[in-house]
Amino acid sequence: MMIPADSPFHPDNEAGYQRWRTAKLAGYPTRGEDLIVEVRDPHALTDTEYRAVLERVARTNMVIYATSLGEAEDKAAVRALSAQFGLTRLDANWLADEDGISSLTPRDEGGEKRGDYIPYTHHRIRWHTDGYYNPEPRRILAMTLHCVREAEQGGDNELYDQDLAYIQLRDSNPEFIRALMAPDAMTIPARVDEIDGERPAEPGPVFLVDPASGGLHLRYTARTKSIAWKDDPDTQAAVKAIEDLLASQPAGWFRLKLQPGMGLLCNNVLHTRDGFTDTPERRRLLYRARYHDRIRDLRGLT
Ligand SMILES: [Fe+2]
Repeated sequence: MMIPADSPFHPDNEAGYQRWRTAKLAGYPTRGEDLIVEVRDPHALTDTEYRAVLERVARTNMVIYATSLGEAEDKAAVRALSAQFGLTRLDANWLADEDGISSLTPRDEGGEKRGDYIPYTHHRIRWHTDGYYNPEPRRILAMTLHCVREAEQGGDNELYDQDLAYIQLRDSNPEFIRALMAPDAMTIPARVDEIDGERPAEPGPVFLVDPASGGLHLRYTARTKSIAWKDDPDTQAAVKAIEDLLASQPAGWFRLKLQPGMGLLCNNVLHTRDGFTDTPERRRLLYRARYHDRIRDLRGLT
């Protein structure tokens, strides 16, 4: 197990875990509104705005920023805001636009190829973290999801902090954590990756600790295609426990609908998307930027 013995996430570090757990749960926000920080100029946050963003992220691994951009198609603003928190290494992905940011909008009505990919449809997307299938050097540690135009109906997101998922699982059975940290807990089947080419089947852990920050990273999808869980009782029970947990609307679970000019900035927390309707005249449009960096404080204000 590649986790430092003094990490609170190490299954044998009970004292460290309990200290971290107490601090984590103290004053945890209960309402979606608690996550929102208004920012006036996304290119240059004031120190007050900056601190408010980091404070949310430190608590919950996520923040909802609210700009006055409205429906402006301004990717530069999204990139600039993210970069102020150390997010600069964008993940290449063949459906992304040339600048590395994806324009998530339905394309399932014109017979285009990307209409095969759920993000580019009107369908519901079940619980997952982004890029769970990415190979190790391309882990998605953070992402920004910015709303340009909201759906006419639906399209809400549910959000859940991976740290809380860890706490729930460890408290109910520490063996779940051991099973999910095993280097072969889940396997992404052999495939052709559009960036890396042909890839063999790749086993990996579900929970892991980011060596640079010591933060907890989670790879998960509720989909049953394109993923194989280790076939042993502890892993199977742990995966079932995650499913049950996410279906239970646990404390710290949020549901919200991003409005134009608003966005989610997060350390790749668990999320869903509801199915939605829009019209050809007014397509839902969200920008999604995925990063190989984790959110961090570049100003030294916290
Ligand atoms: Fe996602």
